[in-house]
Amino acid sequence: MKLTDKIVLAYSGGLDTSVCIKWLKEKFMADIITVTVDVGQKENLEEIGKRAQQIGAIKHYLIDSKEEFVKDYVFPSIKANALYESKYPLSTSLSRPLIASKLVEIAEKEGAFAVAHGCTGKGNDQVRFEVTIKALNPKLKVMAPAREWNFSREQEIKYAKEHGIKIEPKKSVFSIDQNLWGRSIECGPIEDPEVEPPLEAFEWTKPLNEAPEEASYVSIGFEKGVPITINGEEKKPVELVSNLNQIAGMNGVGIIDHIEDRLVGIKSHEVYECPAALCLIEAHKDLEKLVLTRHELFFKEIIDSQWAWLVYSGLWLDPLKKDLDAFINSTQERVSGNVRIKLYKGNYRVVGRSSPYSLYDMNLATYGISSKFDQSLAQGFIELWGLPTRVAYSMLSKMKKE
Ligand code: ARG
Repeated sequence: MKLTDKIVLAYSGGLDTSVCIKWLKEKFMADIITVTVDVGQKENLEEIGKRAQQIGAIKHYLIDSKEEFVKDYVFPSIKANALYESKYPLSTSLSRPLIASKLVEIAEKEGAFAVAHGCTGKGNDQVRFEVTIKALNPKLKVMAPAREWNFSREQEIKYAKEHGIKIEPKKSVFSIDQNLWGRSIECGPIEDPEVEPPLEAFEWTKPLNEAPEEASYVSIGFEKGVPITINGEEKKPVELVSNLNQIAGMNGVGIIDHIEDRLVGIKSHEVYECPAALCLIEAHKDLEKLVLTRHELFFKEIIDSQWAWLVYSGLWLDPLKKDLDAFINSTQERVSGNVRIKLYKGNYRVVGRSSPYSLYDMNLATYGISSKFDQSLAQGFIELWGLPTRVAYSMLSKMKKE
């Protein structure tokens, strides 16, 4: 029997969203249409579609958004040197507004009255999905079954068994979310912040004792803030990021161990593998230092951290993001050139940079005698530079004595 009401569900293939299919169908007597957006999670996405239909979805969409993800979400984040709390490259966060926009697109196409996702009430993703969906289409109802039913894992398994949902053997104790920009790892032993994350948590990053004994060098070419070449060879966006994940990961580079402040107020222990992201942001920051003035750099740091905060907190569509992008894009006009990184057993370090817009002037910087920097001017500079400090210090000292 075909039902008239339709609900579009973001489907990952995991237990939560599988249970969602049945639960939504029963509760709302609606047809469930599942959507999986490929942002480079490297899972068997064909199988996931089949599973959705076996459980009871009337239709499944698999949308390949890898290129769009890298071009329109990851690249702007490189321009913004986006690291939430100075550490996390926003891999999961960046994918959410994109997935949300696809859900809305399908819901509109299918004439669905609601969009559902499998997030619980404790994380950031619920906020990112819902803020974006509601902004894009205020008429759509948003449902978060997992937040509503509040099942424990055991209850969830019981429900699944009772409803004929095949339970796939759990691949690991961790909760994983991955895409081209990184792999987020939570749960299991990682919940104790005092405990070192076990080796089994990592898939993209080689343990240091297995990393090559010789350093690898990789040269990244940027144009207007966007990476376009690796070792002089032009690469398409998806290929560029995948290649760097591979090269850096092989050298043990990519692990981030982070005490993170979630939007909902919880501190959590999050572990990530983001080999390409760490290298690209480090290289990009370095190139900016070569071509931007100190005033631009100083101000951009403030803008960059605001950008990361906005994206982390689910406000991709807030006009402020566009405003920040306008400033950032203007600074990126001159961020073109090459950056060479040395990778060795978990270390990554910029060891060379060049740009046609370089502000580095050897004639000014050199300690050799040929410098055109007139040192005699320094004396007067120091007089004026230190004037306010000297005045204040002398006043305060006098007051102390009195
Ligand atoms: N803490 C990160 C964020 O909010 C990652 C969340 C990833 N979720 C997961 N199931 N591991 O963006």
